[in-house]
Amino acid sequence: MQEILVARDVSKTFKSGGRELNVLKDIDFTIKEGEIVAIVGPSGSGKTTLLGLCAGLDNPTTGDIHIYKEKISHLDENKKAAVRNDFVGFIFQNFQLIPTLTAYENVMVPLELQGKSKEAKVRAKELLGRVGLGDRITHYPSQLSGGEQQRVSLARAFSNTPKLLFADEPTGNLDGETGSTVEQLLFDLNKEQGTTLVIVTHDMELAQKADRIIRLKSGKIVSDQINPS
Ligand SMILES: Nc1ncnc2c1ncn2[C@@H]1O[C@H](COP(=O)(O)OP(=O)(O)O)[C@@H](O)[C@H]1O
Ligand SMILES: [Mg+2]
Repeated sequence: MQEILVARDVSKTFKSGGRELNVLKDIDFTIKEGEIVAIVGPSGSGKTTLLGLCAGLDNPTTGDIHIYKEKISHLDENKKAAVRNDFVGFIFQNFQLIPTLTAYENVMVPLELQGKSKEAKVRAKELLGRVGLGDRITHYPSQLSGGEQQRVSLARAFSNTPKLLFADEPTGNLDGETGSTVEQLLFDLNKEQGTTLVIVTHDMELAQKADRIIRLKSGKIVSDQINPS
């Protein structure tokens, strides 16, 4: 299988109040198309920071990140945005829906940005139906529960049919049943479209369903193992 995401010698240092915080150190991995990778580790170990770097939302202090052959860590913002639009979906820990847009409009945004308005409308409706929100498309985020907002953010992340989907604790704020629905949607996407999944999670049951588990501790990879089960 082709390599889709490569991190080479990545580190990230934040400077705050004259102090340097080394949040990620010596990060190296290669993820292949179609893999399901879980990233686990204690709170504060750098999981969200790592996901942001991989998706090109922030730059590493040292090292490189490649998505396919593009060195995303060193592209200018416009080119980065283009790579993200073409290949990447991102599900944020806190949803990050646009409050002034309805569920339907939120899901349309990625395709609208690609100038595909017609397709955006059809696809947004289809995806919201798929996540069980077909009767909620005109609702604003404030009118939806946490679980419903998470499903809207899932539908949005799926809208550009990403090759690579990052999910930051996608089931973290959900009750058991909604969590299972979200989990199932992610795995279905992998099976149906070969979408590569990189999932940060605290939920060891979910992590055990991945093909591979990367463990972070204090910003370092302490293990990277193929899941035997
Ligand atoms: N923008 C930032 N500026 C300064 N420190 C940050 C920033 N983002 C994250 N950190 C710090 O980096 C560490 C790792 O954070 P994070 O990646 O969110 O961890 P996790 O997702 O594993 O809980 C934490 O100590 C956090 O406070
Ligand atoms: Mg986090």
